Amino acid sequence: GITRHYKFDIKLKNVTRLCHTKSIVTVNGQFPGPRIVAREGDRVLIKVVNQVQNNITLHWHGIRQLRSGWADGPAYVTQCPIQTGQAYVYNFTITGQRGTLFWHAHISWLRSTLYGPVVILPKRNASYPFTKPYKEVPIIFGEWWNTDPEAVISQALQTGGGPNVSDAYTINGLPGPLYNCSAKDTFKLKVKPGKTYLLRLINAALNDELFFSIANHSLTVVDVDAVYVKPFDTETLLITPGQTTNVLLKTKPHYPNATFLMAARPYVTGLGTFDNSTTAGILEYQLPSTTTTTRSSSAAKKLLKPTLPPLNDTTLATNFAKRLRSLATAQFPANVPQTVDRRFFFTVGLGSSPCPQNQTCQGPNGTKFSASINNVSFALPNTALLQAHFFGQAKGVYTTDFPTNPPFPFNYTGTPPNNTFVNNATKVVVLPFNTSVELVMQDTSILGAESHPLHLHGFNFFVVGQGFGNFDPNKDPASFNLVDPVERNTVGVPSGGWVAIRFIADNPGVWFMHCHLEVHTSWGLKMAWAVMDGKLPNQKLPPPPSDLPKC
Ligand code: C2O
Repeated sequence: GITRHYKFDIKLKNVTRLCHTKSIVTVNGQFPGPRIVAREGDRVLIKVVNQVQNNITLHWHGIRQLRSGWADGPAYVTQCPIQTGQAYVYNFTITGQRGTLFWHAHISWLRSTLYGPVVILPKRNASYPFTKPYKEVPIIFGEWWNTDPEAVISQALQTGGGPNVSDAYTINGLPGPLYNCSAKDTFKLKVKPGKTYLLRLINAALNDELFFSIANHSLTVVDVDAVYVKPFDTETLLITPGQTTNVLLKTKPHYPNATFLMAARPYVTGLGTFDNSTTAGILEYQLPSTTTTTRSSSAAKKLLKPTLPPLNDTTLATNFAKRLRSLATAQFPANVPQTVDRRFFFTVGLGSSPCPQNQTCQGPNGTKFSASINNVSFALPNTALLQAHFFGQAKGVYTTDFPTNPPFPFNYTGTPPNNTFVNNATKVVVLPFNTSVELVMQDTSILGAESHPLHLHGFNFFVVGQGFGNFDPNKDPASFNLVDPVERNTVGVPSGGWVAIRFIADNPGVWFMHCHLEVHTSWGLKMAWAVMDGKLPNQKLPPPPSDLPKC
C-alpha cells in the first residue's frame, strides 16, 4: 500500500439549515466533513489541528487499528483531547477491510457536525465480488439541531431528563424538501439509465436507527461495516447509528417519466420523545445535455415517493438483520471462532440514579436518567485509560473488576426490580492476548425495552445469534450460526431481546464498547476491554507517538 496524507483543520463555520443560521464546528469549513479515500493496505496519516475553543478528538469508526490503538480516538479512553491550538497526527494502516466506514468526533456531542465518509477501495488490481459499479456515491445520514447540540446534552445531563430531539434528519447534510424552509437544501442523485451505482450508506445520526428506501427501486446489499456479505435485494433497509451499508442501485433501462424520492426516518422502540420526521433526497434521471426539447417536460414529471415502514416495525428490522450473512468464500472466508475461552453476559439498558440534593430532576419519578451495562454506568476518567494501561498506572484511574454477569438475575421481559439504581464506576475487563470471547447482550426492561446499537472499537465481531425474550444459556447456543454469520462492528441489540457475538482479542490495547445512540453513551451505556500484549514482538502495542495529547 501507499501512504495518504490529510490535513484536518478544526474550525468554525456559519451554516444555515431550516432557515436557522448557526456557527458549527467543522473540518476545513466543510459540512459534512471531507471524505477519506484509501485502498486496503494503505497507511493513512491525518494531521488534526484544533482551531476552536472545544476540546477535540476524532475517531475512525470501524477501522480495526491493529496495534495502533493510539490513533483510535475516543476521548479519555485512548487519548486525552486535542486542546485549542494543538495538533495530533492520527496514523494507522487499513488491514483486511474493504467497503465504507466513517470518521466522527468522539467527545461529548461534537459528532453532530464533525463527521465524514471513509471510503476503502479494494487493493489495486483486486476487484469487487459483484458488478463493477459505474459510479460510487457516499450517502451519509445525520441529525440537525437549530440550537447548539453541546447545550442540548449539557442541559439534559444537568436536569437528569431527556435531551431535546433534533429538528431534522439529513442526507449529506441536507434535510430535504419535506421540511419547512428546506426545499433548496435537498440532496440530488443524478443518474443515467441502465447503470449500476454503488451507494455507500452511513448512519452518522446521533440518536436514531433509520429505515431507508428509494421509490420504485430495489437495492442490493453487498457489504456492511466494510465486510462483504452475500448479496440480497430489499426495498427497505435498516441502518443503526454506527453502521455502514453498501448497496447496488440498478437504474431503469430507459428514461422514466418520473423522478423518485429517497427517504429515511427512524425505527423507534421503547420510551421517550423522538424526532419522527423524514429526510428526503431526489433520484433524478439526467437526460443528455443535447436534448433540449424534453428538458422542459422534466418539471412536469411525477415525483414518486417510497413507502417507509411504521416507526415501530420490529418485524421488518428483525428480518432485515437475519438476512445479513458473511460472504464466506475461499477468497473472503468467515473466520468464526469455533471455540470459546471466556463467556460474558451483559445486560444493557436504561436505569436511573438518585437526584443530587438541592436539585430537581426531570428523569423517571424525579430521578436522573442513567444507562448501564451489568448495572455499571461507566464514568470516563480525567486521564486516558490506554496510557494508564500501557504504563501500568491503573491505580486511581480504573479497576479491573467489570462484572462478567449481571449483579442480580431476573426476568428481563417481566416486572422490573424495585431498585433501578445503577453504580457509577470506571471498570474494565482484562483479556489475555488472543482470548476467544463470546458475549451475549440482553436488553432489559428496567425502564422500557429499547433496541441499542452496540459498537465495539478495535475489532469486528461475528453475530452468531439473536432472539427475543430472555436468553437461555442451555438452549439458545444450539442454534448459533458458526458458518456464515455477519461480521461487523455495530449490532442492534433487539428491543426486549438478546444478541450473541464472538470475537478474538487479537488487538492489544484498550477498546471502548458502547451504545451508538449518543444520549445513551452520555448516560453511561459504555465500558472498555483491556487486551494484554502477546509474547511475540508483532503482538505488542508500540509506545505512544510523541505528539499524543496530554490531559
Ligand atoms: Cu462511532 Cu465509539 O464510536
